[in-house]
Order: sequence, then structure tokens, then C-alpha cells
Amino acid sequence: MVQTTPFLLVLSLALVAPGFSARKQCELSGRWVNDLGSNMTIGAVNGKGEFTGSYHTAVTATRNEIQLSPLQGSQHHTNKGQPTFGFTVNWSFSDSITVFTGQCFVDKDGKEVLKTMWLLRSRVDNINDDWKATRVGINVFTRLPSQK
Ligand code: BTN
Repeated sequence: MVQTTPFLLVLSLALVAPGFSARKQCELSGRWVNDLGSNMTIGAVNGKGEFTGSYHTAVTATRNEIQLSPLQGSQHHTNKGQPTFGFTVNWSFSDSITVFTGQCFVDKDGKEVLKTMWLLRSRVDNINDDWKATRVGINVFTRLPSQK
């Protein structure tokens, strides 16, 4: 009895402790990479579901040199899990804006996946070019391990 009590204590700590550091599934904070190789980092999500972060795109529709760009967005806090979200990237190296909308899913292997659609609005000089100023697409993001 004297020896089993400390053993049980250590065992229960070992089982419970990882739960303290683990992030809740589909809380968007952290680092993500998409199917194009673009990386984004999302900071803390506040009580209203709002967040800010940064985006490093792997590709550009311009001839400009790619630079890290800010993003801001919000996610639903739902008891049902797998929340919807949206965010805007204000590109720092072009006159364009991209809005993303999507949902976080936990796949069959327990992996978080962000399924998104986006609209990329480019600036045009003339109203007659408005028709060609918006691109649409999809991106799938997976989580990158957090850097300690
Ligand atoms: C620009 O070219 O004016 C800004 C960069 C746009 C990058 C787009 S946004 C949608 C798609 N997903 C990415 O990760 N990058 C491209």
C-alpha cells in the first residue's frame, strides 16, 4: 500500500498532465500550411472569437516581392465543435485583399483540417476592368507543430 500510492499518483499525473498543454481541437490559434505551401500564424482567439495573425503566401498574382502580411478574422464558438470562421488578409506588398471563409474539421485520423474558399480582389485602374478583378479558389490548411 505504501509503495502503490506514490506509483498511482505519478501515473495519474502522467495521464492528466498532457491534457493541460493540449490545445482544444479546432481552436484556430497556431501555425497552418495550405496546399499551395502558404503559411499562416494565428494568435490568441479572444472571448468574442476574434483573432489576428500573419500570412506568408507562397504565390502571388503580381510581380512584387512577397512579404509577410497581416490578417484579422473571427471564428464561431460553438458547443457542436468544427466551427466556421472567416478572415481577411490585407496584402502588404500589393493593392489586393483576400477574404477567406471556411470551416475547421477533425478528420477520421483526428487531424484538424481547414476547408476554405477565398476571393482575391485585385486593384484595377478603370471601372471597365472590374469584371476581371476578382479571383476565386479553395485552399485546404493543416496544422503545423507549434514552435516552443
Ligand atoms: C497578390 O498576389 O496580390 C497577393 C497574394 C495573393 C495570394 C493568394 S490569396 C489566395 C491564394 N491562397 C494563397 O495561399 N495564396 C493565394
